[in-house]
Amino acid sequence: MTTTSVSSSQPLRHQLRQQIRHARRQLSPQQQHHAAQQLSQRLQALPQIQHSQHIAIYLANDGEIDPQPFIEWLWQQGKSVYLPVLHPFSKGHLLFLHYAANTPMTTNRYGISEPKLDVRRVKPIAELDAICTPLVAFDSNGQRLGMGGGYYDRTLSQWHQHRQGPYPIGIGHDCQYIPLLPNEKWDVPLPIIITPNHLFTES
Ligand SMILES: Nc1ncnc2c1ncn2[C@@H]1O[C@H](COP(=O)(O)OP(=O)(O)OP(=O)(O)O)[C@@H](O)[C@H]1O
Ligand SMILES: [Mg+2]
Repeated sequence: MTTTSVSSSQPLRHQLRQQIRHARRQLSPQQQHHAAQQLSQRLQALPQIQHSQHIAIYLANDGEIDPQPFIEWLWQQGKSVYLPVLHPFSKGHLLFLHYAANTPMTTNRYGISEPKLDVRRVKPIAELDAICTPLVAFDSNGQRLGMGGGYYDRTLSQWHQHRQGPYPIGIGHDCQYIPLLPNEKWDVPLPIIITPNHLFTES
């Protein structure tokens, strides 16, 4: 007889994703605007950002905190900004493409805006200095729950195993905090998570 091993934390993770995605979608446009400005200020003050030249980030979707004001600041500073693009062949993996105000964009299969694939714009992950990751929930230990695709867990696996590659910075709303998340062995904890009102760092 064969048995399939299904982790018991999956139903709870699913429920938490639903609950927190709902909470962040309830934020008003004014709350979202204010949160985005506060987040930008906090990120600008971060030494890991000040010392970085090549920074990956994302475009807001599904009530996520909006990095746009921060992206504008990065451009003004002459830093290079990159966005995730679903890998066309390698399932579950991301590519990072250079992003400027005039970059041609397209919509991916999750309905998220991403740069149109152009190999000349691809930046190898090892050449990024920092990655600001979206998240659905996070906890006091720096653990992050994402949308469930494992994309950032794969992207950050070198960081997890060898502390190599881009420095990961989680960003989100304060309402996405959960004291203790149910984790799986592949989840990559983040050394720093920033919200409009708090900064969580690894102890
Ligand atoms: N490094 C990895 N290599 C292979 N599979 C992985 C890796 N990391 C995660 N996965 C797989 O991805 C799936 C989804 O993982 P998980 O539920 O942790 O997603 P998530 O962290 O919420 O999503 P994301 O990273 O996209 O925000 C799991 O089935 C897991 O086995
Ligand atoms: Mg994960």
